[in-house]
Amino acid sequence: MSPVKHLVSLDDISAEEVHALFERVDELLEARNSGKTVTPLRGKTLAMIFRKPSTRTRISFHVGMKELGGDSIILREDEIQIGRGETIADTARVLSRYVDGVMIRTFDPADVEGLARFGSIPVINGLTDLEHPCQVLTDLYTIRQRFPGGRGPEWTDCGIAYVGDGNNVANSWLLAAGKLGLRFSLAAPRAHPANPDIIRRARDLASASGAKIRIGNDPEEAVREAHVIYTDTWFSMGAEKARPDRLSRFEGFQVNTGLLALADPEAIVMHCLPAHRGEEITDEVMDGPQSVVFDQAENRLHVQKGILVELMANDPEEGMH
Ligand code: CP
Repeated sequence: MSPVKHLVSLDDISAEEVHALFERVDELLEARNSGKTVTPLRGKTLAMIFRKPSTRTRISFHVGMKELGGDSIILREDEIQIGRGETIADTARVLSRYVDGVMIRTFDPADVEGLARFGSIPVINGLTDLEHPCQVLTDLYTIRQRFPGGRGPEWTDCGIAYVGDGNNVANSWLLAAGKLGLRFSLAAPRAHPANPDIIRRARDLASASGAKIRIGNDPEEAVREAHVIYTDTWFSMGAEKARPDRLSRFEGFQVNTGLLALADPEAIVMHCLPAHRGEEITDEVMDGPQSVVFDQAENRLHVQKGILVELMANDPEEGMH
């Protein structure tokens, strides 16, 4: 990450920085589990702007800042002047005078880019219509926890199958796969593909990293012998209106016991939540022994603490050893 460091896109972070981030997260988690308080963000404040709803992102960033000794302010767009037309550029300039970092969840990626361009504090993308980098960094960390090597594959050797909407999470997954040289298979309906610019970028990254990225429309082909099966709602925020048409286009894309049976017997099932149970995933699979969805949700806290320390701490090592 660069000097005022931001996390606008998964493309902002190198493979080496991802591995270093995960080592930082290991340290923070170890400290937390042993009851040790680590406060490298003492005296720092994170502003969090929400133009869309959130459970996990909102709470995990808030608790994360608190655990790191800092503070956070939650700003819904209808509570601040952005909702009445104040520009992102002016908002960025003003926030930079008050707080030490800003996390934003919004529709348009230009909002996040604008905060980074016109402000002078770190900016974190807490989800846009294009990407969800904090989620996918957490997902990678969760896979790393589950596949430490030994008798199974190392986490970077896992076959990862994403089944469902080619949405913001799928886009960030494509970039992550390209960066880290992963084996990643995306099965999305023809009508709901991933972003074409991101696909091109992921393929460019893959030619340098050796990643094996497959993009198709057949869930069964994607999950065959996969170690990770990933899905997300077919109704991302803003897509709810087109419900009946949309639902029919996702026929055959449900993660259920039949699909799971085609994967590696030790495969894990992931979902970034919130789930629409009975649509993209069945109760049986989501609550079954191969599901790691709630560990994944918990890891939002730990990984975001790592991101906050890397981006906002004066001394990221403070109190670590
Ligand atoms: N996965 C995720 O970002 O959850 P929230 O929408 O609840 O923040």
